[in-house]
Amino acid sequence: MDVKDFITDKYAVLTIGDQQVKLPIVIGSEGEKGIDISNLRRDTGCVTIDPSFVNTAACYSRITFIDGEQGILRYRGIPIEELVNVGSFVRTAYLLVHGVLPDDEQNRKFSKLLNRHSMLHEDMRHFFDRFPSGAHPMHILSTMINAMAAFYPNVDLLSLSEDIDISSARLISTVRTMAAFAYKKSIGEPKVYPRQDLSFCANFLNMMFDSPVAPYDIKPEAVKILNILFILHADHEQNCSTTTVRTVGSAQVNLYATISAGVSALSGPLHGGANQAVIEMLTEIANDGNPKKFVERAKDKNNPSRLMGFGHRVYKTYDPRASIIREECRKFLDAMRYNDPLLDTARELEELALNDDYFISRHLYPNVDFYSGIIYRALGIPENMFTVMFALARLPGWIAHWKEMIGSNTKITRPRQIYIGKTPDNKQ
Ligand code: SDX
Repeated sequence: MDVKDFITDKYAVLTIGDQQVKLPIVIGSEGEKGIDISNLRRDTGCVTIDPSFVNTAACYSRITFIDGEQGILRYRGIPIEELVNVGSFVRTAYLLVHGVLPDDEQNRKFSKLLNRHSMLHEDMRHFFDRFPSGAHPMHILSTMINAMAAFYPNVDLLSLSEDIDISSARLISTVRTMAAFAYKKSIGEPKVYPRQDLSFCANFLNMMFDSPVAPYDIKPEAVKILNILFILHADHEQNCSTTTVRTVGSAQVNLYATISAGVSALSGPLHGGANQAVIEMLTEIANDGNPKKFVERAKDKNNPSRLMGFGHRVYKTYDPRASIIREECRKFLDAMRYNDPLLDTARELEELALNDDYFISRHLYPNVDFYSGIIYRALGIPENMFTVMFALARLPGWIAHWKEMIGSNTKITRPRQIYIGKTPDNKQ
């Protein structure tokens, strides 16, 4: 179905002074209603104002559906619970970018492409030697991804051509190698190259933790939980970083620079940086021993601190990803015989908040970031790499949205404003 098929014959009537305008009502495939204001300024001279787009749909999309009231998340119509059971991040990445789960032949070809494009351009390796050892891996990642356009100059042709797979594979696979190299650089260990005989997630773990003096034992439980975490983080419709990707991409910037902008947006503590902030908060609480004090502090309007990993712009119930991660976290820690006191702290904090009217009345529940860091710790991933993990997982979602935006001949993003500054007669 085309976009115009979702425009109904119903209208919202807007009265401005003695003028009445009829604004078409659109109804999405899951029943979401919208008012099409595409001609509002032309017909009335007025614009709408909605800072941070809390009430504004920026686009039509066929990629991901979220029902924030029911706690539903589906990629291309498939519930995340089903995709977690499939258990393959690579198949989920293909689903997001192509719109269908791959058959075995398509999956084999895509996996082959990911392996083919898993190496970093050798000249890019030397970039790592120029970053200060304390550089945050997210800063390294956004810089290196942006630099890819210089090393793969034909990306503009590839990225706009039908064969999106090469651009996707290069981003999803090379960036995974980049992330592992950034980690090895930060601990002063030699970089470990990707191997053709390992699956996507096993390869990442091996590049992160293998070393010439201590071969890494790739445990199936670790590979399984990493696939699940990557699947759950792979897309989330028009979140801040995806909106950034669609906005920057709308200027027909090359795909790598566009994705680099998404990585920068994701690094914010209110967005993807929250998973690192959650662990820092849980550690502080565990050391202090008084979670109630932290809950009260998060409620205090005079105190800027928040309960990190709690609340969401869209979910007004438990984030379905958080429910799965909470369950899988317990199972994984038990399987690895790994005890993390922060899991008990997290559960105590959750119990306090979910029984506190401040959080209940504001529909504040754990989100995807509340438990994920505990699993990353159990995998041996350092806190400053947590948001990098989020970025690696979100790449297919960003690519899918970029492809959808470019493919629908979207105009360059350029919202209007209401000017309230000084006027020539100094009226304000
Ligand atoms: C992600 O958008 C996405 O889809 C993002 C994401 C994805 O997959 O891409 O899901 C990933 O970013 C998850 C969110 C990670 N961030 C955090 O965990 C940081 C802590 N959470 C908050 O900062 C906040 O909940 C946000 C940023 C997530 C959402 O904020 P909103 O929608 O702008 O809501 P708000 O700030 O207007 O809060 C509404 C009320 C306020 O109180 P009142 O002014 O009504 O009295 O709720 C309060 C807020 O003070 N509030 C919190 C709170 N979150 C909201 N109070 C204490 N602790 C919190 N965590």
